[in-house]
Amino acid sequence: MDTQALKGSWRQVAQSGDQVPLFFYSALFLMHPETRSLFPVSMAAQRDRLVNALGHVVSNVDRVNELVPFLQQLGRDHRKFSVVAQHYPAVGQALLATLEHFLGDLWTPALARDWTAAYGLVAQVMTEAAEESSATSPPWWEGEIILHEVRVPGIAVIRARLNYQYPFRPGQSASVSTALRPKLWRYYSIANAPRRDNTIDLHVRVVDGGTVSTALVHAAQRGDILKISAPVGDRLTLGSGPARELLLIAGGTGLAPLKSLVEQVAYEGPPRAVRLFVGARTSRELYDTEALAKLEADNPWLSVVPVVSRDAFYRGEHGYAVDVALKAWRDQDVYVCGSEEMVQGSVSRLLDAGVPPEHIRFDEFTTAGGREP
Ligand SMILES: Cc1cc2nc3c(=O)[nH]c(=O)nc-3n(C[C@H](O)[C@H](O)[C@H](O)COP(=O)(O)OP(=O)(O)OC[C@H]3O[C@@H](n4cnc5c(N)ncnc54)[C@H](O)[C@@H]3O)c2cc1C
Ligand code: HEM
Ligand code: HEM
Repeated sequence: MDTQALKGSWRQVAQSGDQVPLFFYSALFLMHPETRSLFPVSMAAQRDRLVNALGHVVSNVDRVNELVPFLQQLGRDHRKFSVVAQHYPAVGQALLATLEHFLGDLWTPALARDWTAAYGLVAQVMTEAAEESSATSPPWWEGEIILHEVRVPGIAVIRARLNYQYPFRPGQSASVSTALRPKLWRYYSIANAPRRDNTIDLHVRVVDGGTVSTALVHAAQRGDILKISAPVGDRLTLGSGPARELLLIAGGTGLAPLKSLVEQVAYEGPPRAVRLFVGARTSRELYDTEALAKLEADNPWLSVVPVVSRDAFYRGEHGYAVDVALKAWRDQDVYVCGSEEMVQGSVSRLLDAGVPPEHIRFDEFTTAGGREP
């Protein structure tokens, strides 16, 4: 297989920008109308991830061995879109039609053979992983909202009770979809350690113009059913090594996965000192103060420090959470979660201050679903 030719031809096609997903979906839905219902009603070409990933992933097939775990996860993840093995040939066919259209004379039988083989390989890894996971878990869980609290303007805490046992590790996230915005899935971090009653808490902040976050905060209510996919992510999970002390730095709803870690230490141990710094722009955005105060009162090893960056009248700590946290850094493991900007800023401050990179764990609330392995 000539992988240089695959990469080169994809680079060529990608130059046509938004025309590529437009053509791809027209071809797919024309040749295989049964696939239309898998996709959201309104599809913005500039946000398309499937087509970008298709060309990109398939043309990097020479690295398929390193990427098997990533593709397996992607395959399992596609179960939530109701994708089944029979859909793969349809997408492969539309991909080839797209390549042929944009490459014109450059589209040769040899190139067609290589793309077909590369797509087949990627599809095989994805479908096998999906098939395997279907033996042990549903494509998604149904979670009935049993509590919906808009705690401060624009931030809600939502508790859902899942219909089957839902094993997850503190620090993980779940992809969530609401019937108010059908077929759109967004990741939200689970804000608690596993509970016997099979409930999970989500902390959702409205993003300006955000489709799903706005629906979850302003329209969802008790009794609604959310779709919740299998938990993902290991960036913020606690390691299994020695129980090192923790310094946790949250920005906004980045508190969610870090609170889950605090609960894990409280309920499962092993015991250790934990310092949690909760960053917000103004004190009005501190949405979980009461619950955190209770956790702190119940657990002598825990200290919780709210830090506010833009509120002259606030009586507590001022500035960025990372700067206040750094004053308390005594060789703990540091966990950071929040917006992309907050996380990148915090991590570079930590590194500048001499925190060893191997003691820093972080995750960002990006819009991206599929991530680089
Ligand atoms: C692993 C992971 C965990 C996450 N956990 C949480 C969580 O616990 N709580 C939470 O509130 N959010 C969390 N997010 C973010 C969440 O998945 C959505 O991206 C967010 O709710 C916006 O979705 P939307 O449909 O409302 O916005 P969209 O309709 O997708 O986007 C609307 C506009 O807002 C921009 N935008 C989208 N997301 C953000 C963002 N996070 N910050 C700034 N601008 C944005 C988009 O670029 C677009 O211009 C997490 C994201 C990831 C990847
Ligand atoms: C099998 C899976 C994947 C492989 C083998 C892979 C490989 C690579 C490689 C080698 C690069 C470096 C630049 C290049 O040579 O093109 C890269 C960059 C990048 N990848 Fe991936 N990737 C994979 C999946 C994905 C997915 C699923 C996405 C997004 C949904 C993605 C988005 C990106 C982006 C945005 C860049 C940087 C911009 C660019 O150079 O194109 N990748 N990837
Ligand atoms: C090699 C094969 C494939 C690759 C590499 C791939 C890759 C991706 C990626 C990276 C995403 C974005 C995920 C996210 O945002 O969470 C995605 C979304 C999606 N994929 Fe695939 N996919 C493949 C095959 C298929 C097939 C066969 C179907 C079925 C027709 C399909 C249907 C979808 C749907 C419905 C979405 C959601 C789209 C949206 O929300 O706009 N994919 N795919």
